Amino acid sequence: MWSLQPQNMRKKIVAGNWKMNNDWQEANTLTTQVLDLLKDRGIAAEVVIAPPYVHLEKVVSMVSGTNGVSVAAQNCHQESSGAYTGEVSAAMLDSIGVQFVILGHSERREYFKESNELLAQKVNAVFDHGLTPIFCCGEPLSIRESNQQMEYVTHQLTASLFHLEPAQIRQSVIAYEPIWAIGTGKTASAEQAQEMHAGLRQHFEQKFGQEIANNIPILYGGSCKPSNAHELFAGPDVDGGLIGGASLNAEDFVAIVDSL
Ligand code: 13P
Repeated sequence: MWSLQPQNMRKKIVAGNWKMNNDWQEANTLTTQVLDLLKDRGIAAEVVIAPPYVHLEKVVSMVSGTNGVSVAAQNCHQESSGAYTGEVSAAMLDSIGVQFVILGHSERREYFKESNELLAQKVNAVFDHGLTPIFCCGEPLSIRESNQQMEYVTHQLTASLFHLEPAQIRQSVIAYEPIWAIGTGKTASAEQAQEMHAGLRQHFEQKFGQEIANNIPILYGGSCKPSNAHELFAGPDVDGGLIGGASLNAEDFVAIVDSL
């Protein structure tokens, strides 16, 4: 059974990670449609849109003035500036009005070999520039099959986040994304998601205390769609979602926002 964690006034967040999708025309249309659908809706969640770097500045200007909608980058470099051809720093993101940075997505860990140690540096860079990390964690299928998922995911958090000050942890957003559920159509069950989220919250509690742990938003990601969002979000420790594929369709994305 689900543990009865006090939920306090924890922020509810639905974030759309577009990944490497949408040219500017498509990005413009999608953002316009999402903003139109959100208009006049009493949304209970903070909505975050994470387009590719090249669209960030324009999307920031499109959402400015819409309450409760902000923009995230999908990554950043750990240094503020320097000879790192092709990279983008947290300082640059901050300078154009980006508020969140997704860090540690499993695709970055796998394809770009981002380690827990590197991610700890990126988290520091994000905080140094007043941005908020959406820190991703999650286990591969082999770990889930050997029932080691809690140890695996809590280690990711310990290694990349436990050096932070309590005030920084208080600002952080976590996204649990089991790798076997990303883009596969295979979702974690609501029970599996809730069990992991409660375990992660308990892990934060051991290090940072109950008050902080109770206030960290923990989002679920992995094949989340309008048909399963409501059930997934019903878990008392599930505070919203990090949405991939379904965030590329305005109606689906806003239907997921409505599910909170
Ligand atoms: P899907 O929703 O496409 O499974 O992707 C989840 C994800 O990776 C969001 O960051």
